[in-house]
Amino acid sequence: MAQETQRPVGKYTDEDKKTLSKTIEELFIRFTSALKTAQIFEPNNVAFIQQLKPLYFLIQSLLKSLGKAILQFRGNALFFNTIRIKVDFHSYQRFKFLVAEFKEKEIEAIEFEPDLSADDLARFIVIFAKSRERRLKAFEDFEREMEAQGIKNISLEKLHPFDPNLRMTPDEVKRSCKKVFLKSIIHLQEVMEREKKQEKLQFKTTRRLIQTIINLISFDESFMLGMTNIKNYEEYTLNHSINVTILALCFGRRLGLEKNELVELGMSAFFHDIGKLDVPLEVLNKKGKLDDREWEIMQEHPRRGLTKLVLLQDLSYFPIRALSVALEHHVWANHKGYPQSWKKKELNLFSKIAKICDVFDAITTKRIYRDFSFTREQALSMMLEKSGDEYDPLLLKIFANMIGVYPVGTLVALNTGEIGVVVETNPEEALMLRPKIKLVTDKQKEKIDGEIVDLAEKDPETDQFKRTVVNTLDPEKYGIDISDYFLIQAIG
Ligand SMILES: [Fe+2]
Ligand SMILES: [Fe+2]
Repeated sequence: MAQETQRPVGKYTDEDKKTLSKTIEELFIRFTSALKTAQIFEPNNVAFIQQLKPLYFLIQSLLKSLGKAILQFRGNALFFNTIRIKVDFHSYQRFKFLVAEFKEKEIEAIEFEPDLSADDLARFIVIFAKSRERRLKAFEDFEREMEAQGIKNISLEKLHPFDPNLRMTPDEVKRSCKKVFLKSIIHLQEVMEREKKQEKLQFKTTRRLIQTIINLISFDESFMLGMTNIKNYEEYTLNHSINVTILALCFGRRLGLEKNELVELGMSAFFHDIGKLDVPLEVLNKKGKLDDREWEIMQEHPRRGLTKLVLLQDLSYFPIRALSVALEHHVWANHKGYPQSWKKKELNLFSKIAKICDVFDAITTKRIYRDFSFTREQALSMMLEKSGDEYDPLLLKIFANMIGVYPVGTLVALNTGEIGVVVETNPEEALMLRPKIKLVTDKQKEKIDGEIVDLAEKDPETDQFKRTVVNTLDPEKYGIDISDYFLIQAIG
C-alpha cells in the first residue's frame, strides 16, 4: 500500500497567518510586477529576468515550508493557499489588476507544484501576460497554450460559471445538474476505454467535472442527491461510480471538508471501482450466485484498482488518497470485509466515506443477479443494523441524517390519499418528517403531473399541517420510475 503523502490541507493558525503575511504580500507584489513587466518587455529582457528570479525563489521557499503554493481568486478576494491576501490603499491597484486578469482568463486558481523550474515560471508568466496579444480568449485556449509550451509544474483551476458569486436560476441549476451527471457518465466511459488501451487518462477533465458537481451541490443539494436515483443497471459500474461520487461529495460537505479536499474525495469516489475493469463481464454480470473462484476474482478488484492507479503515468493531478479508497472501500470498520489480509490500521477517512456511499447506492439499485432493490429507507435501516461492525458509527449517523428519514426520491403516501415523490428534505431537524413532495397521483390515485408541495405548510385556519406522510411505498408496485421526476425537471 502506498504511504500517505498527502499535502497539508491549508489550515493555518492565526500565528501562522501573522508570520506568513509579509511573505505572502511580497509574493503578491512580485507576481503582479513580473506580469506587468512581461506585458511590456520581451522574455529575454534583463528587466523581466530580474523580476523573475526573486519571484521564483520566493515560490520555492514557500513550497518547501508549506508543501503547496496556490494563488486563488474566490469570492472577490485573493488567497495564497487558504490565507487571504490583505489589500490596503497602497496595494489596491495591484489587487484590481490581478483580479481582472484572473476573471478575464476564467482562472480560479494557479497551483505551483514542487518540481517547478524557473523556466516553467518564465514561460507561464509570458503566456499569462501576453494572452491578449496571442488571442487566447478562453480558459481552454490558455491551458492548451501552456501544454503546447510544455509547462508542466503549474496547473490551473477554472473559474466556474457556477461560482457562488454568480447567480443561477433554480431551473438553470437543475439543467446543469442533469448535464454534469450525463457528462460524468460519458467521461468515465472514456476513462475506462483509455485505461483498457493503456492511454493517458484525462484527470483535468475529471477534476473539472467534480468541481462543477461541488458547485451545483452548493446551489441545490437535494436535486443533486435526487440525480442518484437514476439507476441504469445495464451500465451499473458507470452509473454507480457517479452516484457514489455525488453521495460522497454531499457527505463530505456535511463533514465540513474544504473545497480542495472535496475535489480529492470526489476523484477518489469516481475511481473507486476502476479495478472492476479487470473482472470478466461473465462474473460481473452473472445472474446466479458467484462460485468460490468467481467470488475470489471479484474480491480482487480493490487490489487491481490500486495497481491501475499506481501505474498511471501522470499522478500530478491525481490525489494520493484515491489509492487508499480504491484498496479499502470494501474493508469494514471492524477490519473484516476484503482484501482480507487487512492489518488493523486505521482506515482512511475517505475510504470510510466511500464504503458507506458505495453500499447505499449498491443496495438501492436493481442488479442483473437480483431483480429487486431496496428502497432508500430500507437501505438505511439495514445499514444502521451493522453500524460499528461494517460502518464507522459516527459517519453512518451523519450520513443517515443527510439522507433524511424520507430520503430524496422516496415514494410516499399522504394522509390526503395523494402519492408523491420526495424532492427535497427539510433541513430543520424538528421538521425532518416534513419534506417537499412532488405529487404524482391525486386523491383517487389517478396519475397526475402534480405540483410540488411543502409538508411543513399549515392550514392558516386550523393551524394543522395540510399534508402528512402516512407511509412509504415501493415505486415498482405503483409502476413509477422515480428518476423520471428528476430528469423531467431538468429537461432543457
Ligand atoms: Fe468496489
Ligand atoms: Fe463500488
